[in-house]
This record gives sequence, structure tokens and C-alpha cells, in this order.
Amino acid sequence: MEQKLLDEFEKIFGDREGARIYFSPGRVNLIGEHTDYNGGHVFPCALTIGTYGAVRGRTDRKLRFYSMNFAEEGVRECSLEGLAPDPDAGWTNYPKGVMWAFEERGMAIPSGMDILLCGTIPNGSGLSSSASVEVLTGFILCDLFGFEVSGPELAKICQFSENEFNGVNCGIMDQFACAMGKENHAIFLDAASLEYEYVPVQMQGLKLLITNSCKKRGLADSKYNERRAECERALADLQMVIGIETLGDLTGEMFEQYKSAIKDETCRRRARHAVYENQRTIEAVKALRDGDMEAFGRLMNESHRSLSQDYEVTGEEMDVLAEAAQRQKGVLGSRLTGAGFGGCTVTLIREEDIEEFEKNVGREYRERTGLTAEFYSVEIGGGPVVHYQ
Ligand code: GLA
Repeated sequence: MEQKLLDEFEKIFGDREGARIYFSPGRVNLIGEHTDYNGGHVFPCALTIGTYGAVRGRTDRKLRFYSMNFAEEGVRECSLEGLAPDPDAGWTNYPKGVMWAFEERGMAIPSGMDILLCGTIPNGSGLSSSASVEVLTGFILCDLFGFEVSGPELAKICQFSENEFNGVNCGIMDQFACAMGKENHAIFLDAASLEYEYVPVQMQGLKLLITNSCKKRGLADSKYNERRAECERALADLQMVIGIETLGDLTGEMFEQYKSAIKDETCRRRARHAVYENQRTIEAVKALRDGDMEAFGRLMNESHRSLSQDYEVTGEEMDVLAEAAQRQKGVLGSRLTGAGFGGCTVTLIREEDIEEFEKNVGREYRERTGLTAEFYSVEIGGGPVVHYQ
């Protein structure tokens, strides 16, 4: 990969002198969906697929961007002065947003850069290609210009850039998972306090299999923001009768006791998902620690059902994929991962059953939706790294 990046860098930017290579992972969330912005827990892990960057500082204030994934767009140029979101700037709004966020936090960027990216995550699949690019950018800024930023702080800056520069009201999970990844471990994160623990994931002949629905995620950002607003309404109603700060403060029992305070039926279901999904996440981590992978898988299935029925972020395609997966031999659990409205499922499956799984699920998905699914077996990887030249 390094040679390929440097060759391409030379082709695009004239020479490779002084270019450094970086990598930042993508992530998959094992369980704990739509809980982060509700003050609950999440349980994601970083992946060995992600985004590579070849980067060199410049002597002027110019930024030049090129992505091998969007080669047809050619080199995009802008200045470090007056960074602002630009609807015509495509993917470069992500790195630009992070640069803007560093400056907002008082870290002035001294010079421009030539930046070439190459992603190994399928775009728009729900495996956080954007958070991967954001964390990569922040990591590069720290390395090139000597800013000292901890992993959790980097995650917060990247989230801030996505919220304020790119207008997506996301929680902290994706950026945190990419910035803080650890090989063979998932991250049990309390999104309210940002306290976290690494939990070893011993696969014991099991694999994490990602199935990409290849369904375009139309309107995903506005639907995402709508779900957030519905949860906020539910919380405001609950706060009239009980002193809580977030939905994550509630156990299932407490929710049952106070749920009638939530006036709107839809908001009540959204809150029910947030509360029970948080409880499932805590239980799933316990199951994993006890080596009870069967229980972990069952909780994944319950998570999907709740995302489908109460949170309504799955849609027909994701439901077909998860339900078909859950019926296959060797499958312990399968669920939507990420925000939803398309994207991927994550399936916990015995390694020897993968081939048959892909055949059966691929066929059923094609027959029922007319779409062709893609499958990737993934490994849990570490956080961002630099390969010095
Ligand atoms: C997106 C957001 C995360 C999280 C998930 C849903 O990936 O970026 O913060 O809310 O959706 O769990």
C-alpha cells in the first residue's frame, strides 16, 4: 500500500520528497445503536480497513486534495484562509472541517499541505468512512505541526467539526472508535462521561462478517436529526416527572414506571429503544466478558428488532438482510450497524459457515429486493498510525 500511495502522490503532486504515510481505521459498532447522543453506552471497535493518507506540508497557505477513490474529481484546491463549508467541495469538506475545528480550538495551522487519500472502506456503507477521514486529518495535523491532543480530545474535535462545519448532528461514537481503536478489543464507552474500557474480543472460531446492503442512504442525515429531536422531546416529558439528565439514566424498570409521561406515542417508542438498547449494551459486554457468545448474539438480534420496530431506522432492505442472516447455520447474531437507513449489517458467525451464508443470504436478498449485497470479513484493528519516510 505504501508504495502505491507514494507512486500516486508523485504522479499527482510532481514528486514524493518529504511525503509521509498515515492510516486511520473505520469502525463497526457491535451493539449500542443510537444510544450515544442519548447519554448511553456504545460498544464499537476499530477495523483494519480505513483511510490511508500520503501528506506533505507546503511553504504557502494552499491546500491540495486528491482522493484515489474519487479520481474522476481530480485535484481540489483551496486556501487555509477563511475555511468554510462548500456544497461543491464534496468529500474535502471533512478534512477542511477538522482544520477549521483545530483553528477554532486555538491551534493555528501554520502552512498548507498536499494530501492524497486512499480509503479501503466502502463509501456510505455505515462503517464510518467520514469519521476515519476526520480522525486521519486531525492525526496528521498533530504529527506535522506538533499539536498535542489526546485520543479522546481528538475524537471531540472531529465530532465538533462534523456537527458545526458539516451540519450533521452526530454523537461521539464514530470518531471515538476510530481515534481510540485497539487491536482485538472493542471499546465499551459511556458516551455521557466518555469513560471507557477496552474489552478483549476473543473470537473462538467466530468471525465478524459485514454485509453491505448497497442501498443508497438517501435523506439519512435529516432522518438522523429527526430521531434525535424525538428523543429530546421524550426526555423533556420525562423530566417533568423524574430528575434525569439523559435517557441513559433510566433502567428498563424505571422506563416502564414513567413512560406514560411521554405524550407522543412515536417519541415513547424512540425512548424505549434508547433505554433498552443501553441496557442491552451493558448486558452484552458482561456476556462477552463471561465468554457467552451465544448470549451476545441474542442481544444483537434483539437490538435489530428494536431498531426496526421502535426506532424505525432499518427499512425493508436492512430487515431482509438481518432476518435472512439470523436464520442461517452458524450465526449467533446479526444486526444493523451504524445510523441505518441503508448501510451494513454486522453478523457474528462461525468461520466454517461463512461460504454457505454468503450464498444463501446473497440469493435471498437479491430475490426479495433486487439488490446485490457485498460481504466482508473484518478484523479488529488499532487507532491511527504514522509510517515515517
Ligand atoms: C452515526 C453517528 C453516531 C451514532 C450512530 C448510531 O454513526 O455518527 O454518533 O449515533 O449513528 O448509533
